[in-house]
Amino acid sequence: MSSPCMQKLVRAMRQSGLIRYFEHLAEQFPDAHLKDLAVDRMLPDRRIEVDGHIVYNFGSDSFLGLDCDSRVIEAIRQGLDTWGTHNGASRAFCSVRSNVVAERKLADWLGTEETVIYPSVTLANLGAIPGLVGKQDILVIDEQAHNSIQEGAKIARANGTRVVSFGHCDPVALDNALRTSAPYRCAIVAIDGVYSMSGELPPLAELNRVALNHNAILYVDDAHATGVTGSQGRGTVLDSLGSYDNTLVVGSLSKGFSCAGAFIGCSAEMKMLLKMRSNTYIFGGPVVPAYLDAVCVVCDIMMSGEYQLLIARLQANLGRLRKGLERLGLVYQGGVSPIVSVLVGGEEETLRAGKWLYEQGYYVQSVAFPAVPYHAGVLRIQINANHTSASIDGLVNALSELARRIEMPRVQNTNKRAA
Ligand SMILES: Cc1ncc(COP(=O)(O)O)c(C=O)c1O
Repeated sequence: MSSPCMQKLVRAMRQSGLIRYFEHLAEQFPDAHLKDLAVDRMLPDRRIEVDGHIVYNFGSDSFLGLDCDSRVIEAIRQGLDTWGTHNGASRAFCSVRSNVVAERKLADWLGTEETVIYPSVTLANLGAIPGLVGKQDILVIDEQAHNSIQEGAKIARANGTRVVSFGHCDPVALDNALRTSAPYRCAIVAIDGVYSMSGELPPLAELNRVALNHNAILYVDDAHATGVTGSQGRGTVLDSLGSYDNTLVVGSLSKGFSCAGAFIGCSAEMKMLLKMRSNTYIFGGPVVPAYLDAVCVVCDIMMSGEYQLLIARLQANLGRLRKGLERLGLVYQGGVSPIVSVLVGGEEETLRAGKWLYEQGYYVQSVAFPAVPYHAGVLRIQINANHTSASIDGLVNALSELARRIEMPRVQNTNKRAA
């Protein structure tokens, strides 16, 4: 039995607009709301079993399929024998040797002087963003930047840093935001390298040009690009900008890497400073050591000729899906990175569409407001290198049937996409 104070707290939380909205959705569409799924079994060919129902999983961000790679799995097994189950201390006190080796290998692969590993991208953003700035500085954030950037910015704001946002992926809006925010000591422009709900890539070169004009640096959260875009999977920054001179890049070690954690690519001096200024690095625990051994194995794969085979498989699968969607004339965003978001529109329709596909044997994520703008719900499809051609064709066929059953936005007479 909860105490009266606990009951009062629960009642108070229920008054939050977001909780009321989620409860409303769950009440209105109890049979259509696919959430909190518990996977019972992983099967070959990216199939999963949930409560006895087997579906192709198009909701995994293990884009290269390395979660199933025997070398990665074996590295974790051996790492457990070597290091035990966890590090047992903050990295501010001590790190296992594999952490040091993984940071070196990541830097060699990425092309930065150094990298610093954090337990997750969220914790990298929550630690580094407030750590980078002070009261005389400004943070300029894309209005659709990932939640962890927004939360990092809130901590910075609470510490006295000015925070302003600019229109999504809009260099003119960035120019305006920086111009009207002057004077400042330093300015950091924080953006995503790939927007995770839409798969959209920002115009990095233009944004960097504007940033340089205003003596600002770019902070790019490349979580969904790591391992899957750019040469050797280095992400969006190097190919677009030619160097990291004016950029701090955050990468993910889960997603494309199929391990755990995150890193920031930077200079050796910046690494030293970040380690002293990131509270999540200092006051939190590190990545489980065995996973760092696996990160080293994945770095070797990224730097080897084998990477070309993996990325070719992923690109072929992505191309197959894109072609199928274009044949159907459905409107989609993304598709350069392995995230493809097919526009449905209304919240109810989006939830029902996802549920219907699930019943046909295909799991994709129904993404509705507030993760995307109101009435701009999407079916978020994540393509992996180890999806079979048959499963992608099956998904396209199911989408074709879905589009006959419900109203879905169509591209008229062209293959133009939403973005
Ligand atoms: C752009 C971006 N940043 C951060 C994250 C969170 O990453 P992590 O799970 O490592 O905290 C995500 C998650 O999908 C993301 O898309």
